[in-house]
Amino acid sequence: MEEEDLAPVLSAEANASMGLPRKKSTFDLEEATEAILKYKGVFELTSMRKVAEREKQFSEQEQKLRARMIKVRHKIAVISGKGGVGKSTVAVNLAVAFAMHGHAEHIGILDADIHGPSIPRMLGLTGQRLQVGPPGAFPASGTLGIKVVSMDFLLPDENAPVIWRGPLKMTAIRQFLSDIVWGELDILLIDLPPGTGDEPLSIAQLLPEMDGVVIVTIPSKVSQVVVKKSVTFARQLGMPIIGVIENMSGFICPHCGKKSDIFESGGGHKIAEELNIAFLGSIPIDQEICEDADRGEPFIVEHPNSAASKSFMEIVKKIEDFLRQKAKK
Ligand SMILES: Nc1ncnc2c1ncn2[C@@H]1O[C@H](COP(=O)(O)OP(=O)(O)OP(=O)(O)O)[C@@H](O)[C@H]1O
Ligand SMILES: [Mg+2]
Repeated sequence: MEEEDLAPVLSAEANASMGLPRKKSTFDLEEATEAILKYKGVFELTSMRKVAEREKQFSEQEQKLRARMIKVRHKIAVISGKGGVGKSTVAVNLAVAFAMHGHAEHIGILDADIHGPSIPRMLGLTGQRLQVGPPGAFPASGTLGIKVVSMDFLLPDENAPVIWRGPLKMTAIRQFLSDIVWGELDILLIDLPPGTGDEPLSIAQLLPEMDGVVIVTIPSKVSQVVVKKSVTFARQLGMPIIGVIENMSGFICPHCGKKSDIFESGGGHKIAEELNIAFLGSIPIDQEICEDADRGEPFIVEHPNSAASKSFMEIVKKIEDFLRQKAKK
């Protein structure tokens, strides 16, 4: 076919795509304009419908989130500036300490560390799956009825990475709060990854009623400097600061009883004073904390008389005082 012969075919196809009769081979400006406007109108209507649908879904989910979260009396997030300072360890042991302190069956942990969830392993819940029923998905249940939700329960195996950007992570956290049947809880502890990125920001935005944050640090100067970032982050987002916990605060040798300040000690206290926030207590380095976490056995239950367990129980009392004071205001 010659090039000229093709012209009517092409313009007929162009017409057809704009909603004009396929037969037409001549260009009519008025009709073309009308078709374009019609197409634009349909496109705008479709986009508007999509936006409206998305807004409806969003507001339904927001309502669901509020309905679920109203049944959770207190929400506390565990944050830190640096990684590996013991946030998850603190979250798990505080949850167990609260459960032992009269709140059994009424404590929840939201593992909001999307990329590095570690709560299931520490509570012996690795390999669990969320059970889904008509009202939503149910959390896994651990020691003393602690309810746990973690990304880990959705992954094919413990080694599978989550390769997500911020908005997807926020969607997942929103669903963890809105689609999970948490039930009536006294306290929901939220374990976060280190720093001031997407996950803590999502939690701050989704739970504006949060009671406060617990900041975990180790005594070294390097960690203290970053604590200031966490404090500024919490203050800027209007999240009350419950206080600082100094983890890995000295090591008492089980053989000779001598204390070694591996990461120095007293730094948490100093930084709390400097930043005018409460100091909640120090947790020593204890080999059993690490070994119990790896075995999935809650340290406080296994070693209730250790210095670290006593310290966790004292910290729980201080947090309860904070919550009582806050309720009075
Ligand atoms: N006081 C302690 N004594 C002994 N080991 C501890 C102590 N605190 C934490 N650990 C161990 O240190 C390691 C890191 O702790 P954990 O995972 O709780 O830190 P994290 O701050 O949550 O880390 P991430 O920033 O990666 O989330 C774990 O193996 C844990 O068992
Ligand atoms: Mg952690």
